[in-house]
Amino acid sequence: MSALLEVADLHLAFGGVKAVDGLSFQVHEAEIVSVIGPNGAGKTSAFNCITGFYRATSGAITIDGTDVTRLRPSAVAARGVSRTFQNVRLFGDLPVLDNVRAGTHLWLRQHVFDALLHTPRYRRTEQVATDEAHRWLDFVGLRADRTGPARALPYGEQRRVEIARALARHPKLLLLDEPAAGLNHGEKLELLELIRRIRDLGIAIVLIEHDMGLVMEVSQRVVVLNFGKEIADGSPEAVRRDPAVIEAYLGSDDEPSGATGDEPAGQTGDEERSGATGDGGPSGQTGDGGPSGLTEERTADA
Ligand SMILES: Nc1ncnc2c1ncn2[C@@H]1O[C@H](COP(=O)(O)OP(=O)(O)OP(=O)(O)O)[C@@H](O)[C@H]1O
Ligand SMILES: [Mg+2]
Repeated sequence: MSALLEVADLHLAFGGVKAVDGLSFQVHEAEIVSVIGPNGAGKTSAFNCITGFYRATSGAITIDGTDVTRLRPSAVAARGVSRTFQNVRLFGDLPVLDNVRAGTHLWLRQHVFDALLHTPRYRRTEQVATDEAHRWLDFVGLRADRTGPARALPYGEQRRVEIARALARHPKLLLLDEPAAGLNHGEKLELLELIRRIRDLGIAIVLIEHDMGLVMEVSQRVVVLNFGKEIADGSPEAVRRDPAVIEAYLGSDDEPSGATGDEPAGQTGDEERSGATGDGGPSGQTGDGGPSGLTEERTADA
């Protein structure tokens, strides 16, 4: 079976820093693959290359056999790749529902004249967008009010909304960057179940996660990065026993064998870098954005 996602010898350098230094892995349809590694290992950078937010220094990324290495985020998204961010990114002032409706704009075509004149066709597509948004908010199990601003939601609920928006784009491949960060134990168990339900829809998932209990439980395969280099790719069991993996984690504060324990504090908070835009890459990109003209902003920092 040919791969849905193929990453081949990916390199990304920031000046002298080799953020990603020879990463290769494949993801097949409806597969759950985790990417783990200590802080700064290059996990988010790899996601940013796959989604077109960063331009790889060398190597190749293909989706369904199409080379997407040099494509813009919007073009990668159009090929069925959706993501969530390490630090939740929602349009904080917009209603929850509208945040998710924004995801449908990738496939729900609207014509400017219809919108200006509020034609029946425009009203129909608006209704489709609203129905879709409710459907995905139901799917992720959002309990909170959908009409209020996204920033008013508790953090765990914001994470659900972000996943709902990603799903509203109808992806083939969903990239989740530390979705369990900041969640309590009960929310993590719900996330585990949600990830499986997403996979059951036929969507492949790549999961960056520090919570080893979640990783070991949900993944079919685990790819391990350390200082940008891939040090293991195998079953959760094989990776857990791999001496190179144990060594990488023993040299850091991360816990490779921790049960579903809570994530160490501060794990996700060190992403802001001067001169960089966190995990989002160049600002103004339209990859994950939704309606153009809106300023995407963080409503919560992990
Ligand atoms: N925009 C950037 N400019 C300069 N250096 C960067 C940039 N983005 C990432 N880096 C560097 O690349 C390396 C990998 O960072 P990355 O954020 O990909 O790690 P990570 O594995 O996601 O870590 P964490 O688990 O803490 O989120 C780090 O040394 C980081 O400082
Ligand atoms: Mg990261």
